[in-house]
Amino acid sequence: MKILNFGSLNYDYVYTVDHIGLPGETNAALRMDTYIGGKGLNQSIALARAGAEVWHAGQVGEEGEQLLQICRDNGVNTDWIRTVTGKSGHTVIQVEKHGQNSILLFGGANQSIPEEYASKVLSSFGKGDMLLLQNEINGVPRLIEEADSRGMQIVLNPSPYHAVMEECDLTKVSILLVNEIEGWQITGEKEPDNILNALAKRYPDLAVVLTLGSKGVIYRDKNERHTHGIYTVPVVDTTAAGDTFTGYFLAGVARGLSVPQSLELASKASAIAVTSHGAAPSIPVLQEVEEYCF
Ligand code: RIB
Repeated sequence: MKILNFGSLNYDYVYTVDHIGLPGETNAALRMDTYIGGKGLNQSIALARAGAEVWHAGQVGEEGEQLLQICRDNGVNTDWIRTVTGKSGHTVIQVEKHGQNSILLFGGANQSIPEEYASKVLSSFGKGDMLLLQNEINGVPRLIEEADSRGMQIVLNPSPYHAVMEECDLTKVSILLVNEIEGWQITGEKEPDNILNALAKRYPDLAVVLTLGSKGVIYRDKNERHTHGIYTVPVVDTTAAGDTFTGYFLAGVARGLSVPQSLELASKASAIAVTSHGAAPSIPVLQEVEEYCF
């Protein structure tokens, strides 16, 4: 099985602040760093650092070489990442003293992927291969349709959630990874079990991974239900913790670990990710996850 991640690649401009800026306020930053990120790129790096073989597809702008380089350095296949005229995606991220963040996202090259290019990429993959998607590129609903017609297994992390997600046919998705807010946006339900019940009613064949922040995670499909708690660590920066979880969980499943084993691996990896600054740089390698003392 090949894993194709069709997703965003961003430069993250990260400002450490005392508190997240309020409307109308001028807030002095304590520190500024530039990191490599993007939900798509982070998840590809997490997959690769967890030992999976991954192809990343997407677009960067003229100044996107570093985005490509970090993928190459981590063994992510970059044959399907195009460089186009204009700017790469970028974010302006405020991180406050407890590690919580606020993200302003500029889509850039992530948002101008032509349909023909998307089709060309998918034509290299087929039955049994996995397509991973987030919601920072254009054309996600169409990618789902086309990947499904090719017999691919589709995994969706509908983050950041916005209206275009309502155009996605979730009956064609095998695994949905959501947090409580995204679960509420999809179902209108706030309680975790109500979110899961509503999804199971609408999409009986869907496996759902519902992350609950400090309350851990619940996995549910039509046959199994599992939970896993969090690991207590010193929190420095929560950026990319969710991406680390997604990449590690899928890498676990792809290499034949059970769901509980994959949840444990992903929970450990995402706990380690919050102990250091940045998005992609904070994602641990498998050996670190296996050796970390929790
Ligand atoms: O999930 C974290 C990512 O979201 C950051 O790296 C940033 O690029 C935003 O896309």
